[in-house]
Amino acid sequence: MHATHIGIDQISFYTANFYLDLAILAKRNQIDIGKYHFGIGQEKMSVAPHDEDVVTLGANAALPIIEKTGKENITGLFFATETGIDQSKSAGVYVHRLLNLNSNCRVVELKQACYSATAALHMACALVARNPNDKILVIAADIARYDLNSAAEPTQGCGAVAMLISQNPRILSIDPQVGNYTEDVMDFWRPNYRKTALVDGKFSTDMYLKAVCHAWQNYQNISPLQWQDFQHFCYHLPFSRMGVKAHRHLCAYNQQNLSEAQLERQLNAGLLYNRVIGNSYTAALYISLVSLLDNHPDDLTGRNIGLCSYGSGCVAEFFRAVVMPDYRQQLFTQSHQKMLAAREALDYDQYLAMWHYPDPQTGEAVENPLANQARFRLAGIDGHQRRYQG
Ligand code: CAA
Repeated sequence: MHATHIGIDQISFYTANFYLDLAILAKRNQIDIGKYHFGIGQEKMSVAPHDEDVVTLGANAALPIIEKTGKENITGLFFATETGIDQSKSAGVYVHRLLNLNSNCRVVELKQACYSATAALHMACALVARNPNDKILVIAADIARYDLNSAAEPTQGCGAVAMLISQNPRILSIDPQVGNYTEDVMDFWRPNYRKTALVDGKFSTDMYLKAVCHAWQNYQNISPLQWQDFQHFCYHLPFSRMGVKAHRHLCAYNQQNLSEAQLERQLNAGLLYNRVIGNSYTAALYISLVSLLDNHPDDLTGRNIGLCSYGSGCVAEFFRAVVMPDYRQQLFTQSHQKMLAAREALDYDQYLAMWHYPDPQTGEAVENPLANQARFRLAGIDGHQRRYQG
């Protein structure tokens, strides 16, 4: 008898239609571009206009999945974000309406910095294990914003990922065994009264490395799998070089010498989308996963992917995904690449205008002087209620 798999049946991502080339930012901030291209490993960052928020990003990410598979048996929508638009109402409830999901669908928003999509994924898998005919839509969406002229400015970005979790998944089986690590630290946070995050940059990178190493140690206690059993790795990517650092760190911890060829095979395809999107907080690890599946030249069927999640504050988790046969037929590779290629380049003043645009208050329409090609957009706020189009 075959073991039952539970995991990712469909996966799709979305980012805003506008980007800033970091060469423009480097020139403006009088920074050698080598620092951005090699030091942090970033080329471009997506910039969200003010008619884009986590609701529109998330709905735009999930739409191709709903159009392809329908909404039958979707009994849950878990929305992971740290850029929520309301202290009370879940962003997922807006998405539920925009996607016209069934009314017998449980919706909730989850938060723990960039980690919460991982909690959502495992909770969804656990619910499917209880009720095998159920399908759960997991959406992670965020807009990463830091102060102008700060060291973190080139690590902004935005994006969303949508994953349909089911029994007999056609893309990835997700193991229930996970390694965890939690510690109360102040490496990155955003109090309710701030639009931009506060960050202790160097400390945050040190905490990231410490936490993922502890999560891996915990994983070793509960799983028979060894480091060498994994062929590919995906990391939370605040910037792509962080993934390289984390991978080198874990390889050294496991006494594995990592050649450039191994780095290329194990990691690099998963970094490509992040290099041109930037940080998307909760979505970043899973956009890296899509990047690996879309861009790795090999057929990855049967291979083990180690997924390493990190959310500041902090929580880290390590777990395994196994690639299912014929997964390539299920991917949205072409539309992902078309979407990235179709984005509009901003000049510095347009970027600044988007960065400075005040949050719309009630009674205001939301203006975007550039044409937003997105299917769903925020049109205005009336009576303190957000009004979406699409
Ligand atoms: N050519 C090539 N490389 C260059 C260079 C040049 N001309 N100039 C500098 N570099 C290299 C540096 O040598 C350095 O490399 P190493 O990391 O290998 O030492 C790298 O570029 C970065 O330079 P700095 O050390 O001077 O760092 P910085 O002051 O620019 O800040 C940062 C970097 C701390 C990551 C900053 O971008 C930041 O605060 N980012 C936001 C916080 C963040 O992303 N933290 C990551 C962990 S927390 C997390 O993951 C949660 C989350 O999503 C935020």
